[in-house]
Amino acid sequence: GQCIGVLTSGGDCPGLNAAIRGLGKAAIDQFEMSVIGFRDGFRGLALDRIVRITGDQLSGILTDGGTFLGASRDKPHKMPIGERTEDMTDAIVATYQRHGLDCVVCIGGGGTQKNALRLQDAGLNVVSLPKTIDNDIAKTDVSFGFDTALGIATEAIDRLHSTATSHHRIIVVELMGHRAGWLALGAGIAGGADVILIPEIPYAIEHVAEAINARARRGKRFSIVAVAEGTMTVEQSKTINELAAAKSSAETKDDKKKASQQLAAFHHEHVDHTLKLTHQLEEMTGLESRLTILGHLQRGGTPSAADRLLATRLGATCAELLHEKQYGYMVAARGDGSEAVPIEEVAGSKKLVPADHPWVRAARSVGTSLGDS
Ligand code: F6P
Repeated sequence: GQCIGVLTSGGDCPGLNAAIRGLGKAAIDQFEMSVIGFRDGFRGLALDRIVRITGDQLSGILTDGGTFLGASRDKPHKMPIGERTEDMTDAIVATYQRHGLDCVVCIGGGGTQKNALRLQDAGLNVVSLPKTIDNDIAKTDVSFGFDTALGIATEAIDRLHSTATSHHRIIVVELMGHRAGWLALGAGIAGGADVILIPEIPYAIEHVAEAINARARRGKRFSIVAVAEGTMTVEQSKTINELAAAKSSAETKDDKKKASQQLAAFHHEHVDHTLKLTHQLEEMTGLESRLTILGHLQRGGTPSAADRLLATRLGATCAELLHEKQYGYMVAARGDGSEAVPIEEVAGSKKLVPADHPWVRAARSVGTSLGDS
């Protein structure tokens, strides 16, 4: 039978174990394949750290958070090894050949799709599965992990209402999502946030303060402001666009390096923007304000029913694809079914919230301020 490898790369998220289980059970029981797990993402492939996966490993893990294989953000071509960063592509190819693999399944987010493509270019057969709480992977309706994070974030907003209403405060809640606003927008709407700020819609603080003040004039002396971590003001987004343009149009290596450093410095500066926003809103509205950063709580714990279902069915479909020797695809979610999308169509593109997305329109329709008017 075929021999396949599997790894989980990038940040952990709910549903990874369910996906490994779905893939593994179908591969082993239905198609009589042998399955090797690699530890800690691409690092395990580079350093040949393996787990032989049998039915035993796949039993009892459906509801577990995280990934029993371990995860890392290591990239094949730039991997920290001791003090140095090395290109481990050759070592990866050697591991692949040593185990006589027919394909390696890379379960991960946007970065992982790019790395999977790199390995395909190096001659490996790869198939990928879309996971991330950010929901920003192109060409898939949704990625597993997102629904669970949405539920956690919504419940957090529900609970924050208690203090906000009792103390007549502004509560700013910072949500994850990397450069995308899906999680903040979804949880903001579901949790009834009064203001929702997302990276795709740059905001002006005056509009945010005015929305809160308008509520106060109507007798609502509290507000919940849901902010995606990558959110920026109109000015900040102009700056970042200019820096990004300077980086991509740089003609010399030095100019490129300089622009990269400026971009990194900007992002470094930007990490505590929600704290600054909270202080500014307190000053501008006279309402006591507090910040809650949900952080990795959003990625932890047992996957929701929807994520278990999604991860299981994409994992099982992946095994079918492998059985048909169809390599080079990401198994995307499409409605109730799935679609095999060439990895090169996914790698390097991001799914952001479009300005006219139904969620954006719904938020505006129910009077939620998005900080842009
Ligand atoms: O991609 C998932 C995610 O949780 C993002 O929302 C966030 O920006 C990032 O990972 C945080 O990464 P780390 O856990 O490596 O700090």
